[in-house]
Amino acid sequence: MSRNWEQLTEQLMEKIRSAGSVSALEQLRVEMLGKKGSVNALMQEMKSLAPEDRKEFGMAVNNLKKSLEERVAARMTELKENELNEQLAKDKIDITLPADDFTYGTLHPLTLVQQEIEDIFVSMGYAVVEGPEVEFDVYNFEKANIPADHPARDMQDTFYVDVERLLRTQTTAIQMRVLEAQGNKLPIKVVCPGKVYRRDDDDATHSHQFVQMEGLVVGEGITQADLKGTLELFARSMFGPQREIRLRQSYFPFTEPSQEIDVSCHVCGGKGCPTCKGTGWIEILGSGMVHPHVLEMAGIDSSKYSGFAFGIGIERTAMLKYGIDDIRNLYLNNLKFLRNYKRFD
Ligand code: DAH
Repeated sequence: MSRNWEQLTEQLMEKIRSAGSVSALEQLRVEMLGKKGSVNALMQEMKSLAPEDRKEFGMAVNNLKKSLEERVAARMTELKENELNEQLAKDKIDITLPADDFTYGTLHPLTLVQQEIEDIFVSMGYAVVEGPEVEFDVYNFEKANIPADHPARDMQDTFYVDVERLLRTQTTAIQMRVLEAQGNKLPIKVVCPGKVYRRDDDDATHSHQFVQMEGLVVGEGITQADLKGTLELFARSMFGPQREIRLRQSYFPFTEPSQEIDVSCHVCGGKGCPTCKGTGWIEILGSGMVHPHVLEMAGIDSSKYSGFAFGIGIERTAMLKYGIDDIRNLYLNNLKFLRNYKRFD
């Protein structure tokens, strides 16, 4: 029995060539070259051949097997590559498509103003110090020269936590802590930002919670001239280089003498307008020379050392700087409102 090996090879090769997918080719491979495949079946035929024909037959089957294996491997590589390319083409990312919008947050206007004030004082060599919001009466009042029966307590209606603790009503409490902690390490030059609380009814100009920035300088030979020069520099950095300041006699228990500081109106330049209620001046902060008794209570020799202090209202400063007319806007968390404020410097 003679076979046309060439024709058989050509037929099988053609089948391999026309396999259209990796899985179809794999199936074909099993059919041809697997244990129960057609090549093995041919091998089985060898048994029925006359011994002298076996060698030739065996070589032919082996040649066929080798050719088929090579062709299957080559075709497999080809098909895998095609399928990968198709997959890649399908998964292609169009990098020219516009990206999803990324929304940035903005800092709260009170944070912006607080940071701006801190930067001004840090540039003059001040350190920034914070203190607790739940404070002892001692620091909030007693050491600030406001004993239990002092009428000034009525001006700062207080949230008490218990008999000796309260929500601080003023950052002056931090000033008292700094004096106590650093009284033996003079000079002191600090600003102390923080939230304060008072039992006020909220309206356009009052909030039961607000933010202050305390300032304190203590050393040898500190005078009112230092206070005035410092606060003039602050007012000009904050509200513009043309600004003038004036000191108006006032009263605070922890300073003597005490002054309120007015800055010439940045809207009308001092001529008089609705922002400054026609006066040309806007009150921006309270200040004074640290009361000798306050220094003594902190163990500082008031005959040798002196100091000045001031308290800035952050909301008031933000409202003046940004023309905000209702303090409640700063606490309503309305993003449309809050996103308007950026720092320009
Ligand atoms: N603690 C005062 C207040 O809350 C503000 C103040 C005034 C602070 C004068 C000071 C100062 O340090 O010297 O109204």
